[in-house]
Order: sequence, then C-alpha cells, then structure tokens
Amino acid sequence: MQISNRQLFLNHVAQVSPNPMDLEITKAQGVYLFDNQNRSYIDFISGISVSNVGHCHPHVVNAIKQQAETYMHLMVYGEYVQSPQIKLAKAITDLLPENLNSVFYTNSGTEATEGALKLAKRVTGKTEIICFKDSYHGSSHGSLSVMGNETFKQAFRPLLPDVRIVEYNSVEDVNRYITSKTAAVILEPVQSETGYTVASNEFLSAIRKKCDEHCALLILDEIQNGFGRSGTFFAFEQTGIVPDILLVAKGMGGGLPIGCFISSKKFLNEFTHNPVLGNINTFGGNAVCCAASLACLETIYSEKLMNEVERKSQLIRSLLVHPAIKSIKGKGLMLSLDFGDTDLNMNIIQACVKNGLIVDWFLFNSHSMRIAPPLIISDQEIKTACDIVLNSIREIVSI
Ligand SMILES: Cc1ncc(COP(=O)(O)O)c(C=O)c1O
Repeated sequence: MQISNRQLFLNHVAQVSPNPMDLEITKAQGVYLFDNQNRSYIDFISGISVSNVGHCHPHVVNAIKQQAETYMHLMVYGEYVQSPQIKLAKAITDLLPENLNSVFYTNSGTEATEGALKLAKRVTGKTEIICFKDSYHGSSHGSLSVMGNETFKQAFRPLLPDVRIVEYNSVEDVNRYITSKTAAVILEPVQSETGYTVASNEFLSAIRKKCDEHCALLILDEIQNGFGRSGTFFAFEQTGIVPDILLVAKGMGGGLPIGCFISSKKFLNEFTHNPVLGNINTFGGNAVCCAASLACLETIYSEKLMNEVERKSQLIRSLLVHPAIKSIKGKGLMLSLDFGDTDLNMNIIQACVKNGLIVDWFLFNSHSMRIAPPLIISDQEIKTACDIVLNSIREIVSI
C-alpha cells in the first residue's frame, strides 16, 4: 500500500505540535499558495512575516538562479571576500545610521539574537539582560532565556542567568530596572507574539536614555518588523531612537534563510580577539541567500512597496468590521484581530483556511488572529481576503 505524503510527513518529519495544519502545498506564487488538490489559498500571514515580496518573486528567483550558477558555499564565515555579502551589507548599512555600519550574517533569527547577546556581554563586560513580558526572540537556549513567557521555558532550565523580565510599555519598570548592572535591553519595536503590540515612543525614549546613562546596549529585534512591514524599512525609523544592535531575519531573505545582527564596526571587532573567532558559523552570509536578500531589498524599493503599507493597513481595518471583532491592533501590515475568546478564534481561523485564506493566531495571544500579508498584496486581493474572514465569522457565530 502506498503511504501518503501526509503520513510520511507525520512519520519522518519531526513534529512540534499534535495538530499541525498539514496542508500539502505544491506551489506558491505571489500571494497565493496551491495545495495538492490545486486549491488556492491567499497567504494572509506571509509564512509568518517572511514573504514580504510575495512567493517566488521573479527578481528574487533570478538572483538565486544566477548566483547558484556562479557559486554557492565557498568557505566558513568571514574568510573570503564574496561579492553577494558585500553588496548586501553595503545596501543595508547605507539605509542605517552611522553607528549601524557592520553586519554579522547568521542563518536565522534566533542565531542573530544569540550573537547580539554575546556581543553585548563582550562590549559591556556585564551580564544582566533586561527583556519584556511575552517577548519572543527565538527558540535556542540564549533566545529562550530572554523569552518573556514561562510556559515555553520551564521544561528547558537551567537557562542563562541574570535575565530580568519587565513589563512592556512600562516607563516605570524601565526607570526602575535598567541599572549599572545591565549589559543589554532587548525588545521589538512592535511586539509580535502578543498580537502586534506597538511600543510607545515615550517607552522607547526612556529605554534609550537609561541605556545611555548606564552604558547598556539597546538591542532592537526587527526580525518580524523589518524589511518594510511597518511602513518604513525598519520600524525604529518611526520611533526617534536608534539601537546599538539591530536584529534582522525572516523577510530579509525573500524566502531563503538568512538573518543578521548589525552594530558598529568598533563593537563587532570585539569578536576578532580574546578569543579570536569570538562568534562564527559555517553558512552565515551564504552567497545565494545574500543574493536573494539583496533582490528582495531592491524589490521593496523598486516597487515602492513601503509607500502602500499604511494605506493597505487602513483598507484592511476598514473592511474588517463585525461585532465579533472586539478590536484590531498593530502597525502597518502587522495586524491582530481580537475575538476575545480562544475557541472562537481557533474556529474562525479553521473556517478561513477551509475557505481558502491562510491566517493563524499568536504564540502568546490565542484569542487574536494574525494578519500579515505580503506587502505586494493588491487591493482586490485584500478585499477577497477580508470577505473570506467575514464569511468565516458568519459561519461560526450567529450575530
Ligand atoms: C521577533 C522574533 N525574533 C526572533 C525570532 C526567531 O527567528 P527564527 O525563527 O528565524 O529563529 C522570531 C521568529 O518567529 C521572531 O518573531
């Protein structure tokens, strides 16, 4: 008897939940996914804030093809001069303030977090890290240590010592807990997994001020916020503050795995001595991933995608009106619909998927629906997607 792909997936691909979505996707193009029955779905979450320029954008695909035919892996991190790495680092740092002039390439978001924590300890000679309630910075040990949620941490202790979790958007906590012992403060300008909670500028300014006062480094995690999703290339551009270390991944690769942490040349030079090779990897800055990332960046600018983010965000907000939706929060194309009840939210999400729209919930907010479409989504596709949400709500609730 032939075993189905679904069963092979369940048997041989390590699982992380008892009930994966297990859609069998065979093709993706633009904002659409197609399954093995050739049913189409609008991807309203971009594979969790990854496909900012849509799936298989031709400029990204061409860049990948060209680079794959030229060279792929050559050498471990930091030894050879590779033009895709240089071009990308130059393009990104040209968009950033002067103190963010050096890029350390990683393979993922969590690896960027790990590198940033090490860098902060190395630069400051201190160990205490301040992070925020319900923050998510990745799943490896260091990142897990600065996750602000005990449910996901308790099974994996001991974790990093000297981590203090404080209240997001609380100026009072910032003023109280950032002290001369603090090595770094890590947070997202828009906290993703609580349902896109936006940091107030007052809160961010207070953090910046306290970090300066106590020679602590400010690490901003833009792994979900970055590469245009907030309406500016990085969300911090709208806040009036500048971080000491910036974390990027997800949307950065246009669909390929790449991340980075960005800081000053002076700080990053700490990894060159005592010990030499202070932070290394094999694949960080892989030539094909860098070429894809540069093409993604170019597309965001050439198609002027950021100019449309706020208007599309408002369009979604204006279309999604129903008594079951308690509130909509977020920034740019990072939105959460609060249904105020986990079962209700899960049932509506399931109905959406059945009706051809991919949406999901948040790690630390199961009563809200995540909406984070590719930035290329058209007005018509937004209207279709919002109709599916409203029809799915009507299928589930009678109000
Ligand atoms: C804000 C944030 N930081 C870090 C990460 C970790 O990135 P990765 O899954 O690539 O390790 C994620 C992933 O969801 C994230 O949303």
